[in-house]
Amino acid sequence: MLSIPVKSLREGMVVGQSIYSKAGAAYLVKGKPLTNQYIRQMKKIGIPSISVSTVDPRFEVEIPEDLVQEKTRMDAIQMVHDVFNDVSGKKAMDTDGLTKITDRIVTDVFARREHLVQLTDIRLHDAYTFAHSVNVAVLSAMIGKFSNLSDEDMRTLVMGGLLHDLGKVMIPAELLNKKGRLTAQEFEAMKRHPMEGAHRISEYEWMLPKASILAAIAAQHHERVNGKGYPRGIKGEKMHRFAKMVAIADVYDALTSERPYKKAYTPSVAYGIMKISKGHFEEELLRQFFDNVAIYPLGTILKTFYGYGIVTKCEFGHTRTPTVCIFADRKRKMLEKPVTINLKDDSPKTIEKEISGTELLALTRDFSFDPSKYLTKT
Ligand SMILES: [Fe+2]
Repeated sequence: MLSIPVKSLREGMVVGQSIYSKAGAAYLVKGKPLTNQYIRQMKKIGIPSISVSTVDPRFEVEIPEDLVQEKTRMDAIQMVHDVFNDVSGKKAMDTDGLTKITDRIVTDVFARREHLVQLTDIRLHDAYTFAHSVNVAVLSAMIGKFSNLSDEDMRTLVMGGLLHDLGKVMIPAELLNKKGRLTAQEFEAMKRHPMEGAHRISEYEWMLPKASILAAIAAQHHERVNGKGYPRGIKGEKMHRFAKMVAIADVYDALTSERPYKKAYTPSVAYGIMKISKGHFEEELLRQFFDNVAIYPLGTILKTFYGYGIVTKCEFGHTRTPTVCIFADRKRKMLEKPVTINLKDDSPKTIEKEISGTELLALTRDFSFDPSKYLTKT
């Protein structure tokens, strides 16, 4: 997939990222060709860039499968939206519905075990918290799966992910969507959401399975293993194991999402940030997590030691060193015949940089071809 600015989109390009609006309605589902109307809408909404499977719509390219089915994800976003609405309106939440969607996520994650985590979807402004909660649940499930959790523990972990930010119902929307830095006072208000969420969950002690663990996940998802988190600043040994998993999923999803105050970072930038601050997370869990995240998703254009190439394959455990199809030398001279190299045995330093946005478009113009043709279905 190629990340390009919305202003450069053309009709017929196939989108590789879903866009969700409020309540789980998919605004645009990945795999569908773009129409001019959608392109106009995206400009109007202010989406800066999106991943497309090809620049040249003549190529039919496979879009990597998600960890869960699109329908499961959409229904889950809708359910989280409803639960948050009910709780903020002081109505009883639908615990049966929540249990059912939790089961569906767990079933999907077990059934689709060979899929790596690919790109984060795009959320329209007011849909952020709901789509984020679902992604945190799915990413946590992925970590739980590698930690060989039982089915029952997986369900607790996933439901904990869905509800981890429930306390945000108490935070005013202006604060949640504020552009720019929060003042010290605003940050203090924001820091109350973990405990607020835990309190709300505790009220469902008789209706939610393992409510005390769900409450611990909400209370501790901003705590850090080195004690540098909030609200209590507790250290790793005091944190629930599931809260440590949810913390990793939460930070990764926030880094790779567009927010009012920041752009979406690419998976490789998010990886770098989380690796540097590894004292925040349990090292073994972080390693397992990034073993299964496509740090350079399929279709990423890279400048490597061997020349310019496109990622054609990402393997579990070797996500920093994917297989690339090298199509030009380091001086941007096209090769007569492209060469496919598996970088598995190379140092990650072989990759010098990833190329996206306007730089990518300039590059495709320089080469006067669309590198995604090397991803074409055979
Ligand atoms: Fe949070």
